[in-house]
Order: sequence, then structure tokens, then C-alpha cells
Amino acid sequence: MTSETVRVDLGARAYDVRIGPGLLARAGAEIAPLLRRRRVAVLTDERVGALHLEALREGLGDIAMTALALPPGEATKGWPEFSRAVDWLLGERIERRDIVIALGGGVIGDLAGFAAAVLRRGVRFVQIPTSLLAQVDSSVGGKTGINSVHGKNLIGAFHQPSLVLADIGVLDSLPARDFLSGYGEVVKYGLLGDAAFFDWLEANGPALARGDRALRQHAVRRSVEMKARIVERDETEEGDRALLNLGHTFCHALETATGYSDRLLHGEGVAIGCALAFETSQRLGLCSQEAPSRVRAHLKAMGMKCDIADIPGDLPDADALMALMAQDKKVVDGKLRFILARAIGEAFVTADVDAATVRQVIAEALAARR
Ligand code: GLY
Repeated sequence: MTSETVRVDLGARAYDVRIGPGLLARAGAEIAPLLRRRRVAVLTDERVGALHLEALREGLGDIAMTALALPPGEATKGWPEFSRAVDWLLGERIERRDIVIALGGGVIGDLAGFAAAVLRRGVRFVQIPTSLLAQVDSSVGGKTGINSVHGKNLIGAFHQPSLVLADIGVLDSLPARDFLSGYGEVVKYGLLGDAAFFDWLEANGPALARGDRALRQHAVRRSVEMKARIVERDETEEGDRALLNLGHTFCHALETATGYSDRLLHGEGVAIGCALAFETSQRLGLCSQEAPSRVRAHLKAMGMKCDIADIPGDLPDADALMALMAQDKKVVDGKLRFILARAIGEAFVTADVDAATVRQVIAEALAARR
């Protein structure tokens, strides 16, 4: 299996996303053209570092590597670990023309990208995403940042990476639940803009989840390609980029309600949110009855959560969940922007959603738990 490249064509900020097996082992050759001197600084987390840091060091060959491993988990994505990372980079004498490497999942990619964005007013960085979620979503497109006490991702910057190395082999070391959570974002791409890709996922998803690398590479490549085309059209989310948030308004409310705990992983919330977005679309007469049923059937076939009823433990009532949705950062002038769909593969952004219908969809989903 050879690697494939998706170009993110953003003019002066254009870069390649390489997707394939063995990229960690080839990291030195891939990164060398970007270097002015043969040394890099790596930000990772302790769990990913224990699994992959030595492989990266070997892959870098004679490029000197220095590394900082932060604690794993979402709690790392705040000011304390961020300032620790920035001070460490300065202490390591990382200069304007050097490269920072983010080795890890979404937390590390977002934090390291933001550190690179502000360090000496901006240094270049390379994403080496190690989770499926990071490979298909967060490592591509230049959204970087950390969380505030006021909400997730509220502090940050658009800062595009100079290269992304998505090594399909590292996905083998993911726990099954983490892999499937990332798969929630893969399904999202089919649902938002490519019905044929959703058909393909229905046919190939189970084998892909069992570990077939060629199928995994295809799924990552198609997801990245779709994201790249959307980011090229709308880098800073003035319009179309919001399509990538299909399922996310519901997801963020459910994540907040469950305290961002392992009761609900992000991609699981996205999957449930996509099912709810299709349910809402159907109730509003926008899409057929078959569409939400097909979304749920595929998630079920994958052994994934597909409904609010699948979330363990207590949840607040429909009004409280509606209030959490109203705090979403995609609120513009007090109106929620929703991503709805006319069919599988045909999502669109709208600020014109009947709140009573959304409330009813949530209330019925909550009632189904009893
Ligand atoms: N994860 C959504 C975006 O990159 O826009």
C-alpha cells in the first residue's frame, strides 16, 4: 500500500496531507524539506508519547528531536498546560524559522497548533495525528485553540499546518471505542456531502473497523479530501465551513450535559447529533422518513451509539438541553445556526429552524430512555 496526498490549496498557506502506512518511519524525509536547521520540538501526550515517540525519533533519523509530553485528556487543553508548552518551546530556543510537531489526537493538535500560532508571533508546525478523529478532522483546516471556563475552543487562532502526516498504521493502537468515536466524524462527511461515500461506508464500515488498512486509508483520504475542498472555499467559517458542524450543536449540548466525561466521547456525540439532525430535517418535511432510519441503522450496525437513549446515566430535560444549545458558539444574533439535510449527502446551513420542532425531537429522544 502506498501513501496518497491531498493538497489543501490555500495559496501562500497551501500544504499537503499525506495519508498511508509507514509515515512515522519516513517522518525525517517528509519533514526535511521544511527545515532550516536539523532539529524539531515535539508536543505530545504521555499516552501517545509512550506508544509512538520512539518510532518518531527513529523516523526523524539525524534530525535532532526534543519532546514534551503533557497529561492525556481534554483537561490539558487549557491555559495552565498551554503556558507550560509555550514556555517549554521558548526554553528549548525554538526560533521563528523552526518547526513544532504535534504528535497526538485532537487535544494535542489544537494546543500545539495554537502554541505555534502565538510563539514568536507564529512559527510553522506539522500535524502528526494519531487518532482517527484527528486524522479526518482536527489536524486539517487550521483551527487551533484551547478551552475557556466559558466553553470549549473559545480561545484560539486559525493557523494552518505546513504538513500533515496521517499514518494509517498508528490507528492499529487505538482502543476500539476511540476508533469508532472517530468514525462518527467519517460518517458525518458522507452525510453532509457525499451520498456515494455513505453507501460505501454502509458496505465497508464493519471491515474497516475490524482493521482493514486499505479500507481505512480510503475512508481517511475521502474525508480529508472533502474537508480540504470545504476549507478551500471558506477557510475562516464565514459560510460553507459550518457544514462540518453537522450534528455538533446537539453534540455540544450532550457533551456539556455529561461533563465531557467518558459517558460520551466527542465522535459518539457527533454520531448521535447527526441522527438527531436528520430526525429534525424529516420532521420539518425537508428529507424522507427513510433518511434518519438509514443513519441510525448504519450506526447500529457499527456497534455505535445512535440515540440519546444510548448515553448512560441521568440527563437534564429537553428545556435544559435547548438552553445548552443556545450557548453554542455558532449562535449569531441570538439565532442558532443549524445544519439540516434534504437527503443523505445534501446538508445545508440555516438560521431558520423552528425551536419547537427541535425541542420535540429532543423530548421524544429523552422519553425513549425510560
Ligand atoms: N471541525 C470543524 C472544522 O474544522 O471546521
